[in-house]
Amino acid sequence: MAVLPISVLPDAALRQKAKRVTVIDDSIQKLIDDMIDTMRAVSGVGLAAPQVAVSLRVAVIEIPGREVITLINPEVVKRKGERVVDEACLSVPGYQGELKRSVMVKVKAQNRHGREIQLKASELLAQALEHEIDHLEGILYIDRVESQDKLWKLSAEEVAEKRL
Ligand code: CO
Repeated sequence: MAVLPISVLPDAALRQKAKRVTVIDDSIQKLIDDMIDTMRAVSGVGLAAPQVAVSLRVAVIEIPGREVITLINPEVVKRKGERVVDEACLSVPGYQGELKRSVMVKVKAQNRHGREIQLKASELLAQALEHEIDHLEGILYIDRVESQDKLWKLSAEEVAEKRL
């Protein structure tokens, strides 16, 4: 297990469409373990493989007080409603923005054992799922911020609370 360096803008890895995982082998298990270590080391809520320069459709999410969720080849199959949220990304350090996310999402994926899972989520988990699945498409939250005044720079002492 290892803490990996996190890619930050303008790293091109963040803008690529990640490839589907076809075989969940030892290298994928190691990637997942390292991603969990990395996410925890920086107190992140979620992390997608492109953020550690691996262009594969893998993401991990850990909502405080809940079990870690590993997602392989995740897809949003249903979205409902709209709400305004504050958001920040480990790959866009020092900034926070306001944008719209779904009230509810349903996501289909495989877990690390290759089993099909379905998640129905709201609140922070729904936000994290949309954020991480966006990363797999090369999309960052700043692309969804409606105008420049909805994106702000944090002062040196401030750290955004929900970094994904
Ligand atoms: Co992010």
